[in-house]
Amino acid sequence: MSEAIAVLRDEHRRILEVFDRFEQRCSEPEKLSAEYVEALLAFIEIFIDGNHHGKEERALFGTTDEHPWLSSFALLLNEQHTEGRLLVRAVRCARGRGESGLPELQAFIAFLRDHIARENDAIFVSIEQALDENSNAALLERFAEIEREVIARWKIAEPGEEHREIGDLRRWEALLVGA
Ligand SMILES: [Fe+2]
Ligand SMILES: [Fe+2]
Repeated sequence: MSEAIAVLRDEHRRILEVFDRFEQRCSEPEKLSAEYVEALLAFIEIFIDGNHHGKEERALFGTTDEHPWLSSFALLLNEQHTEGRLLVRAVRCARGRGESGLPELQAFIAFLRDHIARENDAIFVSIEQALDENSNAALLERFAEIEREVIARWKIAEPGEEHREIGDLRRWEALLVGA
């Protein structure tokens, strides 16, 4: 199994876990405090879009350039990232109007669940077969650079966390607490 793809699959698991917790909380709306929703939006904008989609768009999808079918599929997934950003913007706009933004958030989450399933079941499997040891190592190195860049840009590491992986930062812990 490719270690680089394993990093992305692991991030998918973490994202889906956060989404599961959100959906549990939706059955008890008093657990959807403004603070919690803001923390969830930060996770979506930083961990999912900056970090995870950054790794896919700026590193992984480039490995499909020499495979026409894979490359057109990567293009579609890239367009879905853009569509996802518009859905997140709709959440921000609704909240700016004084609404909860929850229906918009649920729409984004349903959309991203479907996107993740497509990646896990199709493109990751094909790329995994096409990656040799060198390109796997190069991808891992690029992922680490992107991760460091995201942590520095959003200043999300607390003191003492400088060497942790982005998914293990204390910042996300509250999102994984059961409802
Ligand atoms: Fe993606
Ligand atoms: Fe993904």
